[in-house]
Amino acid sequence: MNTIKVFAPATVANVCCGFDVLGFAVDFPGDEVVLTLNESKEVTLSKIIGDEGRLPLEASQNTAGVAVQAFLRAIGMEQGVEIELHKNLPLGSGMGSSAASGVAALVAINELLGSRLTRAQLVPFAMEAERIACGSAHADNVAPCLMGGFVLIRDYQPLDVVKVNVNLDLFCTLVHPHLEVKTSDSRRVLRPTLSLKDAITQSGNIAGLMVGLAQGDSQLISRSLKDVIAEPIRSAFIPGFEQVKQSAVSAGALGCGISGSGPTLFTLSTNHNSAQQVGEAMRLEFLKNHLMSEVYVSKINQVGARVI
Ligand code: HSE
Repeated sequence: MNTIKVFAPATVANVCCGFDVLGFAVDFPGDEVVLTLNESKEVTLSKIIGDEGRLPLEASQNTAGVAVQAFLRAIGMEQGVEIELHKNLPLGSGMGSSAASGVAALVAINELLGSRLTRAQLVPFAMEAERIACGSAHADNVAPCLMGGFVLIRDYQPLDVVKVNVNLDLFCTLVHPHLEVKTSDSRRVLRPTLSLKDAITQSGNIAGLMVGLAQGDSQLISRSLKDVIAEPIRSAFIPGFEQVKQSAVSAGALGCGISGSGPTLFTLSTNHNSAQQVGEAMRLEFLKNHLMSEVYVSKINQVGARVI
């Protein structure tokens, strides 16, 4: 076999209180990559479908190309690779679009070369792709995209990636308003330092969220879905943020926050029906702010990217 197709899902980074250290994967939407081995010694992108010509075809500038190049360098192989990328995730949406492309390509090359590395071992190469995409090698999209479920990045130096044990069924609603926010821009506006008071609040909430997930305690999860680091600043980029968030909670969501660097908002619910009602309430609230949006309701994806 010298060609393979891989799907990599959207991801929700931060999950309110876990800035840069927590993320989870959903079942859909996601990006697809068709990767083919060839006799050349180069990594090339033959085409990108669905990006309206906005992404670079140059492998060293594209997350899919960079991830594959980093992987081949690490295993010491000069392998010719051709990548065809199908972009289904909107750019600058906060749904882990750049991560999904990099991860899909990475899983594809690893699979074709005999699954040499585990999904957790692939995380650093996908992080290199994130660095190209937004200037920061954060792992809270790529790790859940590779491994599925909720993934905690306990530390970056050295990298310590932990799949979180979750003891209840959760449904995610993603509401993507028709806006674009570049991750690099929404990182630049953050304050470089944190007050002791905010550090205490954020620590309490991330610990509460971990315990809530492990114990299947939906009320504890609900109380913990708070963010005092990024949301107070980034919400300014999202018209009607407070009202949309309030509409989600009133419609029954456990909590609501900015997905990654936004502008997509995410919520968690304990059943599919509720997750759909929440999405509709949020969509209508965005409309009051003259913003159309797409709504996606999905279970938490347990396996991450997969061969299709
Ligand atoms: N943790 C990153 C951020 C995720 O919030 O900037 C970006 O998708």
